[in-house]
Amino acid sequence: MTSDGMHSDRGEWSSKLGFILAAAGSAIGLGNIWRFPYVTGQNGGAAFLILYLVCVLLLGLPLMVAELTIGRFSRRNPVGAFEAIKQGSWWKIVGYLGVLTGVCILSYYTVMAGYTIGYIVKTLVGNDTTFESFTSNAWLSLPLFLLFSVLTVLVVHGGVKNGIERWAKILMPVLLFLLVVLIIRSVTLEGAGRGLSFYFKPDFSKVTGKTLLAALGQAFFSLSLGMGAMITYGSYLSKKDNLVTSGCFVALFDTMIAVMAGLVIFPALFAMNMNPAEGPGLVFQVLPRIFPQLPGGNIVGAAFFLLLAIAALTSTISLLEVATAYLVDEKHWLRRKAVWIVAAVSFGLGLPSALSQGIVPALGDLPLPGGGSFLGFMDWLFANVMLAAGAILISIFFGWVWKMKSAAEEIRQGYPNVGKLLTAFDIMLRFVCPALILVVLIYLFISIG
Ligand code: PFF
Repeated sequence: MTSDGMHSDRGEWSSKLGFILAAAGSAIGLGNIWRFPYVTGQNGGAAFLILYLVCVLLLGLPLMVAELTIGRFSRRNPVGAFEAIKQGSWWKIVGYLGVLTGVCILSYYTVMAGYTIGYIVKTLVGNDTTFESFTSNAWLSLPLFLLFSVLTVLVVHGGVKNGIERWAKILMPVLLFLLVVLIIRSVTLEGAGRGLSFYFKPDFSKVTGKTLLAALGQAFFSLSLGMGAMITYGSYLSKKDNLVTSGCFVALFDTMIAVMAGLVIFPALFAMNMNPAEGPGLVFQVLPRIFPQLPGGNIVGAAFFLLLAIAALTSTISLLEVATAYLVDEKHWLRRKAVWIVAAVSFGLGLPSALSQGIVPALGDLPLPGGGSFLGFMDWLFANVMLAAGAILISIFFGWVWKMKSAAEEIRQGYPNVGKLLTAFDIMLRFVCPALILVVLIYLFISIG
């Protein structure tokens, strides 16, 4: 990745594996382990899981390939990428929306990420204060929020290639292993069966437009799509790389981790007679009750939150990278300056979210969608609405403006035998994605009205 802020030296990933790990690192994060279980819980379980998987397959995968292709072709940040492909058009606004969405998601995401650091220590020392009293303690949550913001900055302006690429290679398998251990413990708890049927036996009578919006939003959020993060990461790919298989790997890893997180949470949750529709605090309330039931529970628990913090870090990096790449490519800022300024803006924006979790009661009880808290509202607005809006615009741009015929040339470099797959992606991007997302967005506006 570029470190001096010049176009000519934007840099590339060190290898295909390096890219897959970095992109999977962006995709796998709090979205899989914190957000997926609570959104699934709020939306009735199995039926939501099925909708989610359909969204990943039909919309997520083609869009992932589209974003990577736009990025590698243009070798630019999202704003520059749209400008490079369609000069002088208003399409670059989609890039600006992506930059804005990235900074806004980063703002509240880092608040949650800060909690994971707190939970490492809390679990290790066996402190059993509740999640609410933890988040409503300003002396804990604000410094942790600041700490996580600074960590993100340090990684983004120090080498991503040598730092994150290398660490992700070791840590992702450890996360996987710990998840397997936790699944085994969770499904063997007494009463776990009810959790499994909640998670796997669909009740489609509960599905509404709201469920579909949540499934779409979760798919885009989890795969880091709809705001140009994958355009940016794709811009550092080499022409030799296979965009389609790389994209598929990333989507597969990401989905697997989310499904596994659900397998940890729901059996345990039902075994402990807790409410699956609890909301954003869900994972922080359920997991600390499973750890004590494992040998060396405190250590396993602390290790788990450590990995969660690292997974969150590889995602915050990509959220920060989008705006940074824009300022470096288009405004010729020094990378160092761009990173600190974007992070400072995002920190400021994140303060009301941090305060809304029990510190300033008024911010926790607003007449807004997303559950009432300011953090919930930001998540609703940016993860659900803005990512869906970004996704529809990117698919229309790819399918109708740039068109598969031009994009195919880029995709065939690195994958000469892609064949019929392109036709399938083309149909998805031109018709299915826009139509489905449009229906969901219309439903959304009607329901707000
Ligand atoms: N995909 C990340 C997660 O699931 O935690 C969150 C995210 C990162 C969303 C980067 C969007 C993005 F551009």
